[in-house]
Amino acid sequence: MSKLPDDFLWGGATADFQYEGGFGEGGRGIATHDYETNGSVEHPRHHTMKMPDGTLIEPNSSFILADPVPPEAEPVFLPDAYYPSHKAVDFYHHYKEDIKLMAEMGFNVFRFSIAWSRIYPTGLEDEPNEAGLQFYDDVINEMAKYGMEPLITICHDEMPMELALKYDGWKSRETIDAYVKYCRTLFERFGDRCRYWLTFNEINAVRGFGPCGVRNSDGPDRYQADHHMFVASAKAVILGHQLMPNSKFGAMYAMSEIYPATSKPEDVFHCMQERRENWYFIDTMGRGYYPSFAQEVLSHHGVKEIKMAAEDEQTLLDGQLDFISFSYYRSNTVKAGDPWFNVGGDSNPYLKQTPWGWGIDPLGLRYCMNEIYDRIQKPIFIVENGLGAVDQPDENGYVDDDYRIAYLREHLQAMKDAILIDKVPCLGYTMWAPIDLVSLSTGEMKKRYGFVYVDMDDLGHGTLKRVPKKSFGWMKKVIESNGEDLS
Ligand code: BG6
Repeated sequence: MSKLPDDFLWGGATADFQYEGGFGEGGRGIATHDYETNGSVEHPRHHTMKMPDGTLIEPNSSFILADPVPPEAEPVFLPDAYYPSHKAVDFYHHYKEDIKLMAEMGFNVFRFSIAWSRIYPTGLEDEPNEAGLQFYDDVINEMAKYGMEPLITICHDEMPMELALKYDGWKSRETIDAYVKYCRTLFERFGDRCRYWLTFNEINAVRGFGPCGVRNSDGPDRYQADHHMFVASAKAVILGHQLMPNSKFGAMYAMSEIYPATSKPEDVFHCMQERRENWYFIDTMGRGYYPSFAQEVLSHHGVKEIKMAAEDEQTLLDGQLDFISFSYYRSNTVKAGDPWFNVGGDSNPYLKQTPWGWGIDPLGLRYCMNEIYDRIQKPIFIVENGLGAVDQPDENGYVDDDYRIAYLREHLQAMKDAILIDKVPCLGYTMWAPIDLVSLSTGEMKKRYGFVYVDMDDLGHGTLKRVPKKSFGWMKKVIESNGEDLS
């Protein structure tokens, strides 16, 4: 093969709570991310929680959230805080304009997530919310006008708040039933127009109250929650295949490549073990059974065993994924003695970094694609890749973002090398995120990824006007040439 396949999928990816807004509109319920403030690298965004005596719980240094959250604490909105998910960049009211811009670039796929709380406001209703279903119907039909197919993330790091409060989210098996009910509704309503589905976003990295509704994200609760998500994903795949015979399912993994900090055998061995923290997820869902080293991973986190129902083993086997998708932004290094599940890892002296300290490593993308395919032998789908940077618009809102073009050019070349030289089957590439949106990790707006500038600042001020950046025209040319022309 000397060219990318003719049916290669080119597009962009977003997540509802970072992009959609429309808080409280169309009957949408409250989701876990709705309580997250904006933040910055120095001051992480967090949920504000209140104890029965009125004491507010201060965020600690953990990623995004105060954790653990005491069982008696309730989420609370503070009058003077800013909650970015409520408006995000208002795709809810701009979807026609945004989809038109994506179509102008030549997208034939658009990955977006459905807000669970828009379909089942608390997660507990027997009947879905028609206005929520209608919104996504409108979005999908608008895309169809341009021949753009959906790649739907069923659950992107969040859930209706009520499920978190009532069941401690994914810690309980009840949440599996709520999720499968939600999936059935989506498949019955959108299945005639959607082939590609992702059961969960970054399932290997999510933890804690915001993404999983689990109050204590370390140790046994986290791994029990993961098991329930594995079973829920498998049940969704089984049901999806029954209801939509042409459907294809993936789940999405955060694949920051991990290298040993040195060639010292102890560092290399630790790196192998740290990587197993990811393989634990990919192997189980991609092959349909827990890997042989699962207990070793659990032991690192003080977990003696996972509670499983008798039928779970068969469900995992029957509900294995059709393809493996992942996000790739950066690589990290680890060394012996580092804590397990070292999300950020250490920086790599051989790499340049983004302003947010993420090591830029295009070759790591080729490495990831090869490694996953060698191991799982199922097609790859790159569903997030991009550069978060501070853009400086001119007086018309135009951004000359050569740095973004350079980042994407090198990563797309690495992807092409994996496909054309190493022969890794890859279904497509959806860049994060085609239109500027709110950052997941910091809640900032100034960490921009888009081909299209959105006039809004970190506190939600601005006109929301959309203006294509220089990279918009560049990506259009890349797609027109099916990836041949990266100049
Ligand atoms: C992935 C998530 O982790 O990375 C996205 O799936 C997120 O939701 C993206 O936005 C980039 O991260 P950040 O923190 O720069 O927004």
